Amino acid sequence: MDKAAAPLDFETARALLEWQAELGADEPMLEAPVNRYGLAIEAPKPVRAVAGTGQATAPAGPEPVEDPLQLAAELAGGATGLEDLAARQASYDHCALKRGARNFVFADGNPAARVLILGEAPGREEDIEGRPFVGRAGQLLDRMFAAIGLSRTAHHPEEALYITNVMPWRPPQNRDPEPAEIAMMLPFVKRHVDFVNPDVIVLMGNTSCFAALGRKGILRLRGTWVEAFGKPAMPMTHPAYLLRNPAAKREAWADLLEIRARLGGA
Ligand code: URA
Repeated sequence: MDKAAAPLDFETARALLEWQAELGADEPMLEAPVNRYGLAIEAPKPVRAVAGTGQATAPAGPEPVEDPLQLAAELAGGATGLEDLAARQASYDHCALKRGARNFVFADGNPAARVLILGEAPGREEDIEGRPFVGRAGQLLDRMFAAIGLSRTAHHPEEALYITNVMPWRPPQNRDPEPAEIAMMLPFVKRHVDFVNPDVIVLMGNTSCFAALGRKGILRLRGTWVEAFGKPAMPMTHPAYLLRNPAAKREAWADLLEIRARLGGA
């Protein structure tokens, strides 16, 4: 057999994979590009019996609808609670990001928390795990909020955090979500906030400011209380930004202290 074509044993294959990950490769690539946006959505679809044949067919793509925004509003508006909202949002087929994502990322933490953090969108680790803020930025976020006595694993609402994102699906190459994609998710985000009913919202970065306030410019917005979804909200620089710009941590600390003071116990 041609040596180059010999199959790799398990240990060699794993060592090669680890070496590539250390070099920074974070996606497996095929020889030829795959247009994942052209692929049929793999989420289970309602299967309809074809009259007279006894066979079943599943539609290949989303059923066309006249107004995807209206559909999002109807789905979100009909939700009876968080679990139902998650199921309804996950079933929404009209956001193209769904087709490129591995997982639907809804939320983490304690829904009874007084503080809700609204992030941007899942990154690679979140897409793999199906939970928001579990990568490096998420670990920094956990440390930042632990410093003011808040944690996503806490049971007591006074010490708890609830974490969600504007987008539940990872954008390709972590690009910013498009305004049209954000608009489709907005009814779900509003309903999500209504169900959790936090005392304070943290708008983590530009995308969540744009979704909640219709404005970007986080470096100007941060540090000043605003109103979002009818709640007091604090725009903050995203922990991914803080990882790249450690000097900005000083201002982030001031914002955390503002949140602590607003909750009481400063
Ligand atoms: N960044 C976000 O805004 N949200 C996540 O879940 C992960 C990274």
